[in-house]
Amino acid sequence: MSAPKSFYVTTPIYYVNDKPHIGHAYTTLACDVLARFKRLDGFDVKFLTGTDEHGQKVEKSAEAAGISPKALADANSANFRELAARLNCSNDDFIRTTEARHRASCTALWNKLVETGAIYLGHYEGWYSVRDEAFWGEDELITNADGAKIAPTGAPVEWVREPSYFFRLSAWGERLLAWYEANPDCVGPASRRNEVMSFVKGGLQDLSVSRTSFSWGIPVPGDEAHVMYVWLDALTNYITAAGYPDTEGEFAARWPADLHMVGKDIVRFHAVYWPAFLMAAGLEPPKRVFAHGWWTNEGQKISKSTGNVIDPLGLIDTYGLDPVRYFLLREVPFGNDGDFSHRSMINRINNDLANEYGNLAQRVLAQIAKNCGGAVPKVGELTAEDREMLDGAHGLVSKLRPLIDRQLFHEVLEALWGQVRAANIYIDRQAPWGLKKTDPERMGTVLWVLAESIRGIALMTQPFMPDSSARLLDLLAVPDEQRSFAFTGSHYSLKAGTPLPAPSGVFPRFVEADVNAG
Ligand code: MSP
Repeated sequence: MSAPKSFYVTTPIYYVNDKPHIGHAYTTLACDVLARFKRLDGFDVKFLTGTDEHGQKVEKSAEAAGISPKALADANSANFRELAARLNCSNDDFIRTTEARHRASCTALWNKLVETGAIYLGHYEGWYSVRDEAFWGEDELITNADGAKIAPTGAPVEWVREPSYFFRLSAWGERLLAWYEANPDCVGPASRRNEVMSFVKGGLQDLSVSRTSFSWGIPVPGDEAHVMYVWLDALTNYITAAGYPDTEGEFAARWPADLHMVGKDIVRFHAVYWPAFLMAAGLEPPKRVFAHGWWTNEGQKISKSTGNVIDPLGLIDTYGLDPVRYFLLREVPFGNDGDFSHRSMINRINNDLANEYGNLAQRVLAQIAKNCGGAVPKVGELTAEDREMLDGAHGLVSKLRPLIDRQLFHEVLEALWGQVRAANIYIDRQAPWGLKKTDPERMGTVLWVLAESIRGIALMTQPFMPDSSARLLDLLAVPDEQRSFAFTGSHYSLKAGTPLPAPSGVFPRFVEADVNAG
């Protein structure tokens, strides 16, 4: 057997001056679903998340709080680690940019860029936004209602002038364009790819990659009055965690990363600057950068100032973890912006989960318990309709793989629910409850076809709803070691006579009074 293929997926690393909110939970969850899917599909997965701890923004927040930047980072990094755990995320590593391994990696990358002539010392003057940790061109600024110049993101900007090291980004335009052309999938969705390409076609200026006006960062080797630009520091986390500067060993197997998942606001950093840094250092760019959209809250832009930030832990407490995981990836076509509302959350729980999926399982398992002696029934001759049901369930994995590889989570779930609905139609048409007296053998076959279909569906819902799917597979007595996608086919079908545990509901309805009671 050949060694399993590596699949390396990353979340952005989160700024520690903020509390975790729904946006962070969303990116991390999407990566978790991918990581779980790929692991179940036989890949050797590395799933990385972590925190971005340097920069002026953190220094200023710490100052305001009267604590050291490191103390602030320690406290808030722990919140992000806890969020990942509460989301039941299966990350294999959690990186902090204040760790020694990361400092070593950034220092090595910097030295490499100096050695290849990609970094030079100059002078910087320009409009800087602390909130975005980015310089903005004069032509990119907008004027707000008070007549002040602000960044296109709405953040305040200030004029700064200081000595600075520069990365020769202007030299990379043609090579970046050639990379996008040769790798049509390297940036997704297509709208973001177009956006990135037109930005590069518009001409690239050299990028300031060091600062002297504050000190909370990784010192520039040999010139410690400077700290590295926080985005150069932050992006490097992806290679640090793969083992850089050691480019043999794990790095050789892990790099380039298969996917950097990001929000639409940080595509430019990942799809322009990062590949240019890497290529300049003689390293390969990532295979793919995918940008998802942004959530609004009941139709309103989410912002700290309006106080409508959605706390993911609060959502989990109210609705339960798996329903939240399902909702976030089902409600909005991945890549688009979407709106969060309690109404749509409750609808998804009660319709998709309780009525459609949960009820199907409950009906089938209850009938087996009652009419088949609580064991997997015997399967008789199969009709064309039976075969169609089974083929649909057994064929799910090959249908879903190409969708997962394009991060089309909502389409994966639609395809799965197509199978759930087909099973609900089948049970109504076959009406096994009416066969008990007239044709018990046929009743057994119908219930077996249904139970086997549920096995096929539950195997595939594992990445999205790990706990609930595990409970369903327990109710079907599917052995733990037979839950990877290698076992989806008919060869591993449920065996007649296998005793099943007493059925219990897996997807309860959400009773509305609960929202106000909490
Ligand atoms: N530290 C940088 C990333 C460095 S990666 C080398 C950063 N951090 S962040 O904490 O501000 O943002 C993390 C992610 O949250 C981004 O991908 C961003 O798009 C996402 N979101 C922030 N608000 C969001 C919504 N309202 N909706 C969805 N995602 C949002 O950027």
